[in-house]
Amino acid sequence: MKILQIACVAFVVILVGASAVRQSQFRARAADAASTGAGVADRQGHLHVPADYRTTYQFLGSWAIAADDGRGSKELHVVYASPGAIDAYRKGKHFPDGTVLIKEVFKTETAEMTTGTVSRANALKGWFVMVRDAANSHPENALWGDGWGWSWFDAGDPLRTTTSNYKAQCQACHVPAQASDWVYVDGYPPLQH
Ligand code: HEC
Repeated sequence: MKILQIACVAFVVILVGASAVRQSQFRARAADAASTGAGVADRQGHLHVPADYRTTYQFLGSWAIAADDGRGSKELHVVYASPGAIDAYRKGKHFPDGTVLIKEVFKTETAEMTTGTVSRANALKGWFVMVRDAANSHPENALWGDGWGWSWFDAGDPLRTTTSNYKAQCQACHVPAQASDWVYVDGYPPLQH
């Protein structure tokens, strides 16, 4: 009987201990999230698409990719920045650490409208996400470098990137924008005042 009681007490102690550890891990993760990339990166540098960016982020600009037959656009890209990014960029001509840029990629539908031949956003294909990290704080992670964290997310899975190496899958295409920290800033009117 005594042994059973001791076993019970020991079991309860283990349970309480485990939940305290879990809680402190959770708090550490939350604190991390707040300090790195406005909550889009965890301690290891895994990124995700923030759920509320369409209402809390700032609109930067959009890009229309011409259709191969020349009629309208085959893709629309819509770019957002995390809160405060525009003011900070205007002052310092750089995005501060933790700035998040999100580029939505849409398929389009093209029709004759009263304004002419018009392409509008249709199905969302997914998101490109970049997080500013001038200190290069994840040198061991192949999704971080050159002052940013980089990832693509398919529309169905905003929490898990399909990108494995930014140098191979992102950077070469951003070389023309290298002088402006790899970002195509000319496309974003709010940054120019
Ligand atoms: C095929 C070339 C290409 C590849 C590959 C590519 N990008 Fe881009 N990216 C561009 C171009 C060009 C723009 C601006 C014009 C546009 O959207 O068409 C852009 C814009 C962006 C933007 C908006 C901010 C900016 O730089 O203007 C983000 C964010 C972005 N890319 C992230 C990524 C990430 C992350 C990857 C890799 C997972 C990646 N890109 C791969 C060419 C590319």
